[in-house]
Order: sequence, then C-alpha cells, then structure tokens
Amino acid sequence: MAHISIISSCIRPDRKSHNVALYFNNYLTNHDLAKVDILDLKEYNFPLFDNTLKNQKNPSPQLLDFAKKVKTTDGIIIVTPEYNGGIPASLKNAIDVLYDEWHGKPISIVTVSGGIFGGTQALVSLQFTLWKIGAWTVTNMFHVAKVQEAYDVSGLAMDKSTTDKLTDVFVKELLDAVEANKKG
Ligand SMILES: Cc1cc2nc3c(=O)[nH]c(=O)nc-3n(C[C@H](O)[C@H](O)[C@H](O)COP(=O)(O)O)c2cc1C
Repeated sequence: MAHISIISSCIRPDRKSHNVALYFNNYLTNHDLAKVDILDLKEYNFPLFDNTLKNQKNPSPQLLDFAKKVKTTDGIIIVTPEYNGGIPASLKNAIDVLYDEWHGKPISIVTVSGGIFGGTQALVSLQFTLWKIGAWTVTNMFHVAKVQEAYDVSGLAMDKSTTDKLTDVFVKELLDAVEANKKG
C-alpha cells in the first residue's frame, strides 16, 4: 500500500485549512487507499529559513525528521491556504530548507481560501516553486472556497457526497503517479 504524507501548511492559531488536511487523512484512511501521516508545520515549528539542511552544521531533530519523511514517502498532498495571492511563509520556509528530498516526488496540491475563489492564485506560485525544485506535480487540483463553511474541526465535509466524489478523482491521480513513479 502506498504511503501518502499530507503537509498541513498553516500555523495560525485559528487555522481552517487544517480541517481540510484532516478530511484527506480521514478519506484515505477510511477507504483503505494508503498509509497516511500528517506533516503539520505548526507542530514542526521551524525557525525562519537561514540555510538549507545540507549546509546546516547542527540541524534540529525536527528538521531531520521532516526531511526523512519527505524523502521516504511515496507521495505528498500539500494543503495550503492562500495569503495575499500566494502561499504562507511557513510553507515556503519548509520547501526551501530541503532540496534533493523533493526531487521526483509526486505531489498533489490542495488550495484553501475563506473567499469564493478557492485559493487559485496560491496554486500558481506553489506550482512554480515545486517545478523549480524538481518535484513531480500532479495536474489534477483541488480548491476549497469558503472553508469556514465547508469543513468542521474534525475534518468532516459539510457536503460530503460531492466532496468525496471530487476527492476520489483527485486522489486516484496521485496514486497513479505514485505507481508510475515506483515502476521508474
Ligand atoms: C495574511 C492573510 C492573507 C490572506 N489572503 C487571502 C487571499 O489573498 N485570498 C483569499 O481568498 N483569502 C485570503 N485569506 C483568508 C484565508 O484564505 C483564510 O484564513 C482561510 O481560512 C484559510 O486559511 P487558514 O488555514 O489560515 O485559516 C488570508 C488570510 C490571512 C491570514
């Protein structure tokens, strides 16, 4: 069974996009589609980037743990809120601190916003960054508008049947990419 890691990017106290990360965790687990872990950037609490892991003399255990998990997982779902048309600093921080670990990694992107556009502008900058760093971004995307009305704190989607249908297609493409990647 594939191992999928979900990066929950927001570190705000009252974050809503984390509820979407919980939804994907529950969906993959309950449908027995993958082994899942959530890489929660709020828990990692990384300091502001000042050097790549490769060039750090005494990397923290948290950073070594994150690097190992990114490197060894089969595929990643990044859940990011949109902040001022881009991604939060916490996510850019976590991407830039690694390098080789991202290479060739199948990654699907979920963008989240409080407004009606579902974070589509954040998608553009995140796609570009991941492309530059050599990840393999999956083309299917998942946008969540008005997140505060769409998911509860346990990750339950208010419109479960429609959300599950969209998720089914979205997740399948990531799992196909993981499979193709394993075949080389
Ligand atoms: C600093 C900041 C900037 C934001 N910029 C945008 C934006 O450009 N477009 C948008 O639709 N929502 C924007 N939002 C609202 C977020 O999308 C909203 O907080 C949503 O709940 C998802 O983020 P969260 O995980 O931080 O809760 C912004 C929120 C913050 C805190």
